Amino acid sequence: MHPTFDITDPDLAGPGERRIQWAAAEMPVLNMIRTRFEKTRPLQGLRVGGCLHITTETANLARTLQAGGAEVALCASNPLSTQDDVAAALVRDDGISVFARRGEDSDTYYAHIRAVLDTDPQITLDDGADLVTTLHRERTEQIPQVLGGTEETTTGVIRLRAMAKDGALGYPIIAVNDAMTKHLFDNRYGTGQSALDGIIRATNILLAGKHFVVCGYGWCGRGIAMRAKGHGARVIITEVQPLRALEAAMDGFQVMPLLDAARIADFIVTATGDKHVVDGPHFKVMKDGCVLANSGHFNVEINIEALEALAQAKDHPRTHVREYRLADGRRLRLLAEGRLVNLAAAEGHPAAVMDMSFANQALTVEHLWQQGRKLEPEVYTVPQPIDEQVAKLKLEAMGIGIDTLTQEQQAYLASWQEGT
Ligand code: ADE
Repeated sequence: MHPTFDITDPDLAGPGERRIQWAAAEMPVLNMIRTRFEKTRPLQGLRVGGCLHITTETANLARTLQAGGAEVALCASNPLSTQDDVAAALVRDDGISVFARRGEDSDTYYAHIRAVLDTDPQITLDDGADLVTTLHRERTEQIPQVLGGTEETTTGVIRLRAMAKDGALGYPIIAVNDAMTKHLFDNRYGTGQSALDGIIRATNILLAGKHFVVCGYGWCGRGIAMRAKGHGARVIITEVQPLRALEAAMDGFQVMPLLDAARIADFIVTATGDKHVVDGPHFKVMKDGCVLANSGHFNVEINIEALEALAQAKDHPRTHVREYRLADGRRLRLLAEGRLVNLAAAEGHPAAVMDMSFANQALTVEHLWQQGRKLEPEVYTVPQPIDEQVAKLKLEAMGIGIDTLTQEQQAYLASWQEGT
């Protein structure tokens, strides 16, 4: 049967296929799971609907699920993150129903989510919770047939926990983001590298010696700060949580309120998950040429309407750069329309880190399918054995050996009698 799909250009499949294979070479853990899935077909008969960034790494996840016997339909989890060549390759080479066009407007974005829901998924994969929330708002009749879902990102987990708290969540969700082998690596090293990659590709401005402000010192903010420091930037952290601010200070970063940081910033990057973090009062004090980028899931962290309202003129000096000229002549440069800079202006996290995130996804889908209807409509963490298995397999693939406890050491750790 020919799949239904909506993509930009089927002729892009050739280069898309080559890039998917390039990424696959960096995803050994997912490949091991795929080989097992091919042999044992644990997902036979399952319909999976995914709202994920359509990238080379997601393509390898989709192929793994398909190798396990699942039927997969995909839409984008951000209007600007779709790699059109990848979408084309998945349609041409795998018969996967992909509904995603880079740069799609909001109506198309939601039409594509509905198209995935039309495939009657039994398990949903989300990155930001737009698929789950649309299903709960518009397709309540479909809820009983869904066994469960997974959530990839911090913002999505926060939304889904809020749904569960309100009694509005109709089926169980496993928060893949909360697995150690996901957020400690993907959020930190993945965002660290890809956000810097996006900023550098978009601007080609030297970071060394510049004031580089990171809003939020969660795992993503830490990664961005660490990598900006590696480029020789003078990194400043802004935070609202005392504990995180203290950590940032003791990690060697300057910490101050954003209103102070904005006066000296050459770059401001948001990674907070909250809205209007960079707002009118900050724009008013920024230096000429300040670069603004967002690395959080939604394009709400920089108040773009407030910036538009202050602007006298707009320019588009480079791909992914919008320059706003204010009344006093200062120019503020917004990257990627305030959307995820790592996916909109670069290619997202590198495959080697998505390897762990998507190994968790694949094993969690298998777990959900095995659980059937046993789970309650709550937000669960990834089972510990899955998290540990991913860590072990990744170490193995990296050729790194570790020690094991002796029996004497195990007994010592389980006892209380021996002291000083
Ligand atoms: N999120 C961040 N980077 C990603 C990637 N490369 N693929 C899918 N989702 C992502």
